[in-house]
Amino acid sequence: MDTRDKLGATIGRMVREGAGILAADESAPTIAKRFSAIGVESTAESRQAYRRLILATPELQQFVSAVILFEETLTQQAGDGTPLPEFLERAGIVPGIKVDKGKIPLANAPGEEITEGLDGLAARLQEYDERGARFAKWRDVYHITGTTPSRLAIETNAEVLARYAAICQSQGIVPIVEPEVLIDGDHGIERAAEVSEAVLREVFHALSRHRVELETMLLKPSMVVSGKSNPDPASPEAVAEATIRIFRRVVPAAVPSINFLSGGQSPEQATANLNALNNVGSVPWALSFSYGRALQEPALKAWQGQPANGESAQAALYKRARLNGAACRGEYNPALENG
Ligand code: 13P
Repeated sequence: MDTRDKLGATIGRMVREGAGILAADESAPTIAKRFSAIGVESTAESRQAYRRLILATPELQQFVSAVILFEETLTQQAGDGTPLPEFLERAGIVPGIKVDKGKIPLANAPGEEITEGLDGLAARLQEYDERGARFAKWRDVYHITGTTPSRLAIETNAEVLARYAAICQSQGIVPIVEPEVLIDGDHGIERAAEVSEAVLREVFHALSRHRVELETMLLKPSMVVSGKSNPDPASPEAVAEATIRIFRRVVPAAVPSINFLSGGQSPEQATANLNALNNVGSVPWALSFSYGRALQEPALKAWQGQPANGESAQAALYKRARLNGAACRGEYNPALENG
């Protein structure tokens, strides 16, 4: 298969009606934070036990078409010794990998960050491909304050994100492009809309400059929401209206699917917002999820590091996947939480 056919085949498997992506690609420090909240120490063994458990959730593939893994997980095994990427493939789930190397301060832009990891990326992608990864993810972040994000941060991060996407496609790996406008702050939804529009506009300029094929990439953005400490949070309908309004302006119709991140929304909120997005009507892209916390939080709470809680943890993950699958069709309502 040539590179182009390979990209098309992968996208075709990742974008499926009523299904989305599970982000299980927490870096070592991030998973340590999630584990510490449930009193579990993060070791190679505990991480493998947890990831092995959630990835073996029965029937997960009904609502999850792809899973983003962290580099370490790519080399870990399922209970029967099968490498986890192969285990997922057998279940009909596409395995992929987070390839950025995290954020560092952006020089001359106080309080802002840049994501690194471009050097040697093409060679790393070849290795990941041999291990079974079919797509990659790279996350950039933007902080909303009175003075940020600056033009410098917006332009520099867009350039890096586009270079990453171009390198992925040259290697036959589908890029997930993730510009995350952080939820922290007490700003209103209009400020979030203004920032998201500026960020996405620049990201798509850069993708075009770097000749990234929009048909074989996925966008993983934040929803346009009010700041986390805003005392008067926007309703799902207001979130959906603001998000679709600006996405119509700046996200080309050639992008097949927009898979939102949850970014610190509660699991129920993230599902209700996705459902409202799918009820706005008449948009050119699929609107789905690529959630980390909003899918895994209930599973982690149920698990508590105890093998005996394995089934409840899987049931908790399955439930969130199912409800988000319903939200992809615009068929969720909060009463289903108790069903
Ligand atoms: P959240 O859904 O928890 O924001 O995680 C998604 C993700 O992959 C962050 O990079």
